[in-house]
Amino acid sequence: MSELTEPRTTPAARPAGRARALPPVLVTRALAPGVLERLTPFCEVTLHGDDEPMPRAALLAAVRGTAAVITTLGDTVDAEFLDAAGSGLRIVANHAVGTHNVDAAACAERGVLVSNTPGVLTEATADLAWALLLAATRRLGEGERLLRSGRPWSWAPNMLLGLELGGTPLGILGMGRIGQAVARRARAFGMPVGYHNRTPLSEAARDGAEWLPLDDLLARSTVLVVTCPLTAATRHLLDAERLARLPQGAVVVSMTAGIVDELALADALDSGALFAAAVDNFEHEPAVPARLLAQERAVLVPHLGSATVRTRRAMGDLAVDNVLAVLAGDAPPTPVGPPARISPPPT
Ligand code: GLV
Repeated sequence: MSELTEPRTTPAARPAGRARALPPVLVTRALAPGVLERLTPFCEVTLHGDDEPMPRAALLAAVRGTAAVITTLGDTVDAEFLDAAGSGLRIVANHAVGTHNVDAAACAERGVLVSNTPGVLTEATADLAWALLLAATRRLGEGERLLRSGRPWSWAPNMLLGLELGGTPLGILGMGRIGQAVARRARAFGMPVGYHNRTPLSEAARDGAEWLPLDDLLARSTVLVVTCPLTAATRHLLDAERLARLPQGAVVVSMTAGIVDELALADALDSGALFAAAVDNFEHEPAVPARLLAQERAVLVPHLGSATVRTRRAMGDLAVDNVLAVLAGDAPPTPVGPPARISPPPT
């Protein structure tokens, strides 16, 4: 293994006596402990062992001649990237459930497979949605900042009053795996759940939640959790006009960047139309709009949805499983999009 920056992992020993060169694999970010050790016996790994995204020029140089690459959402995989990689690239294994950083059509044109890490991050992300929902409705950010400011305070009947959840309608925009996991947790809080998806779910999957047209869902959701994937059709789906359809004093929890128009969200907080909001990831990450940062009623966290020890290990393992399968000539376990041609490994 070679490192482009400071090593953070220990390469595992390779099986002895290999005759042919191992396939070159680029890993663009330090992964959870133990993950790369599963790859190094079988691949010549180049690791950008850093927590910062690779600068574009370095990424394009490092991907040249690789057979596989493990990317993160900060790496744009487009025609330029694929041309820089060359014709030997067989799989882009995105270390995320989202794939909006990957031009799937450009990959398909070149016969490059794409995989993601669905399933393994569902529960962690649903937990964080609930952490944010509770923080926003109970004004935890404001309370924390008050104590840390050192300003004098004393218990008061009207101090930092929040919203109570029992009986409060919860709306889920995007009832995929994560939306369904958010809905399951709502039962414990006694919240009636409505949702909107392009296609209503089966009886079993919806588990008591009610499908509603988008505008009807907005009109009845005192708390709205946004978990739908970012696509051309969902970008800024929650613009100023749609946010205005929420009940007065509603709370918005945004778990997917780009669906909620962040400046319209800031306007709705400033005007008092919303009681509070919480955002886990941002459209122009790592930039966070100054108007949201200035809003006391916004709970803002740096893209922590899947950030647990267990889940990041599972995401890394799944990305590695996809790479190893494709390099062995098998189908990737979690492909994105229609199955593409699997090319046999070089002999
Ligand atoms: C996180 O945002 C992901 O898509 O995994």
